[in-house]
Order: sequence, then structure tokens, then C-alpha cells
Amino acid sequence: MGYFIAQYDAAMLPPKVNLEAAFGKFSETWSPKLLASVADCHVKIAKFAGEFVWHSHADEDELFYVVAGELMLHFAEGTVTLQAGELLVVPKGVRHKPEATTETWVMLIEPSSTVNTGEVRNELTVAEVEVLEPPQ
Ligand code: NI
Repeated sequence: MGYFIAQYDAAMLPPKVNLEAAFGKFSETWSPKLLASVADCHVKIAKFAGEFVWHSHADEDELFYVVAGELMLHFAEGTVTLQAGELLVVPKGVRHKPEATTETWVMLIEPSSTVNTGEVRNELTVAEVEVLEPPQ
């Protein structure tokens, strides 16, 4: 059984996730990993470093929760900076560009249909999100 908490054996207790251990499972940046499913939303974690691309999601709101580090979210109107322990929801249709000066750990909650680069398709696009396996 992986971390993906949509399907688990009903005879078992629901598995818990230790976020620090989960972030310790991978090192690549801008590559979201699937942790859990809640209703029709996915809970993903990702490491951000540097600048992402401007994009928007026509039909999906996107929640960013900073676990560690500092995340800048740029909007047409300006920039909001999130510290660890802070979150922000980007409403559907709103253009945004994430940026992190240092490696920043982010948890995302968004509809399962959400593609990380929105309407943009480039080398940063992750069409198939990897399911994170638990630490051994
Ligand atoms: Ni986005």
C-alpha cells in the first residue's frame, strides 16, 4: 500500500502520513507527488526551487500550503509571500507564477484533473503524477 490514501483495505486503519518523511522520499523539484485523495481533490507534495511558469487553471482552484521554506506567488496585481505554516488558494482562472528563492516544500490540494502548468504545456508539465510510496 502506498501513501495514496484513496483506496485502502477497509479492514485496516487509515494510514497516516508523516510529511517530513514523505518529503524525504524525493529530491526533484517541480515534480508533484500524489499523497492522498479527498473527495474529488488530490493532495500532492512538491519541492519548489527557482521560477515556475505563468499559467492558470480554467476549472480548478489550487491550494498552496507551505510546509518549509518560503513561497512567492506572483499575480498580475502583485506578489504574495507565504512562510512555512501559511496557505493560499488561487481561484480558478487566476493567472499565477510560483517562485521560491530557496528549496521550499509545498503541499497542494486541488481537483484531481489539475495539471501543474495549467493551460501551458512545456518541459515542466507533469501529465501523470507519481504516487509517492511510503518510506521503508
Ligand atoms: Ni497552478
